Amino acid sequence: MRRYFEKPEDELSILVETPPVCIYFEVTNRCNLLCTTCPRTFEELEPEKDMSWELFTSIVDQSAGLKRAVLHGVGEPMLVKNLPSMVRYLKDRSVYVLFNTNGTLLNEKNGQALIDAGLDELRVSLDAAEPTAFQMVRGRDMFDRIVKNVRRFRQMQQEQSVESPRVSLWLTGLRETLDQLEGFVRIADSVNVREIYLQRMVFFSDNGKGLARAESALFEKTTAEEEEIIHRAASLATSLGISFNASGATEPGTSIKKRRDDSPWSLCRRPWSLMYFTANGRALPCCIAPFSMHGYDSFTLGDASQQTLREIWNGPQYQQFRGSLMSPEPPRACANCGLRWSL
Ligand SMILES: C[S@@+](CC[C@H](N)C(=O)[O-])C[C@H]1O[C@@H](n2cnc3c(N)ncnc32)[C@H](O)[C@@H]1O
Ligand code: SF4
Ligand code: SF4
Repeated sequence: MRRYFEKPEDELSILVETPPVCIYFEVTNRCNLLCTTCPRTFEELEPEKDMSWELFTSIVDQSAGLKRAVLHGVGEPMLVKNLPSMVRYLKDRSVYVLFNTNGTLLNEKNGQALIDAGLDELRVSLDAAEPTAFQMVRGRDMFDRIVKNVRRFRQMQQEQSVESPRVSLWLTGLRETLDQLEGFVRIADSVNVREIYLQRMVFFSDNGKGLARAESALFEKTTAEEEEIIHRAASLATSLGISFNASGATEPGTSIKKRRDDSPWSLCRRPWSLMYFTANGRALPCCIAPFSMHGYDSFTLGDASQQTLREIWNGPQYQQFRGSLMSPEPPRACANCGLRWSL
């Protein structure tokens, strides 16, 4: 089955008739953590802002045919007061709605508001199985609070016999925390979360800052021992009835190592199917570029506070971006892109 960002090569053109089926809304670029993998911790990407209700609804209202909305960018979406109203606005238009959260603000009241709004999927980025490793990666001592929040949220869902939102736990693939993986599976089981993801870390080609660097990236150069740890965690997950998704690492016949194809970027179909808007309205090609390339200038494709979506989607910047993605010389943000980054 084809995924929403896949399209056969022969259908590609720099102009796209069909509007995007998926939109990322960076509902805020504010955050209450200092993750050592996140560019936000080390530089101001844009002026601090929550996306205005007017901008949010104007983008949604221009998006006939929208199937999926992701309500995070680089920032913590649960800091936004009217997040449940945004979810409801999209659910009233039959859009599948999800977001990643750091889980720090998932108290009973906020959790209930999200259940009531009809959220489809809640992805909690936990990144560790105990407080010390958590603090090393996420910058603050909040592990126990997040685990407590998720446990209580799952209990509330059981008490109310509701399945939505689907809850999952996420761990960014770092060599420094691979030893957390089995514990991570057990934590998921203990809070009754049945889905976990080991996601590929994206880092700047100049080696960036903090842990977002080549030598920490698990998927860059994995040893047999590390692969063994992943397979052990996957077996444990299976035995506990937990689905374990490791960005391809445990699928038969695929290598955990980064694709070495000559032009991996040429497989990307995101600029043909999805859009991403920052809290200020800036259009970006995807959710990965902010992690692979410093500053937004080289991959800014428009401004939703000044232009219509249609003008942006087939405007000169989008056309040029698509054109270079199909060429041997891709946009700089795309040059090292692998396609199993499941952000
Ligand atoms: C930027 S955060 C925004 C949502 C929310 N603040 C959170 O942490 O879940 C989106 C996802 O990116 C992950 N992430 C952080 N740094 C990353 C990196 N360098 N490469 C890949 N994913 C990263 C986070 O763990 C999270 O799952
Ligand atoms: S990964 Fe999420 S929680 Fe961590 S600093 Fe970035 S936006 Fe905040
Ligand atoms: S950075 Fe990667 S995912 Fe984003 S548009 Fe470029 S190739 Fe596609």
